[in-house]
Amino acid sequence: MTEFIKAADLSDIREGKLYPVDIDGEPVCLTKIDGTIYAFSDNCTHISGPLNRGELDGCVITCPLHGARFDITNGKVLRGPARYDLITFPVKIEENSVLVGLPDDE
Ligand code: FES
Repeated sequence: MTEFIKAADLSDIREGKLYPVDIDGEPVCLTKIDGTIYAFSDNCTHISGPLNRGELDGCVITCPLHGARFDITNGKVLRGPARYDLITFPVKIEENSVLVGLPDDE
């Protein structure tokens, strides 16, 4: 089950800008690309570099620590040293709120 939690106001998320939030202790980064909002883990899968301080070029984020790259639309690793895909989260818009879906605790 996925629980959708308010992460930001719609107006907070700007095209091509990174917006870090903490959702129930989970560091999540939001951005908007071509009008679509994406949410992904703010922890690089290499050794947890803060991706919100990385560089976003189109849909590709580059980790500020050792340069791993991920496609933030699907989390795929595009360049090492990271070996594992990034966690991405579903996003819903309700009125002026951005909701992010986190898996329920089991
Ligand atoms: S922590 Fe991201 S590449 Fe090393």
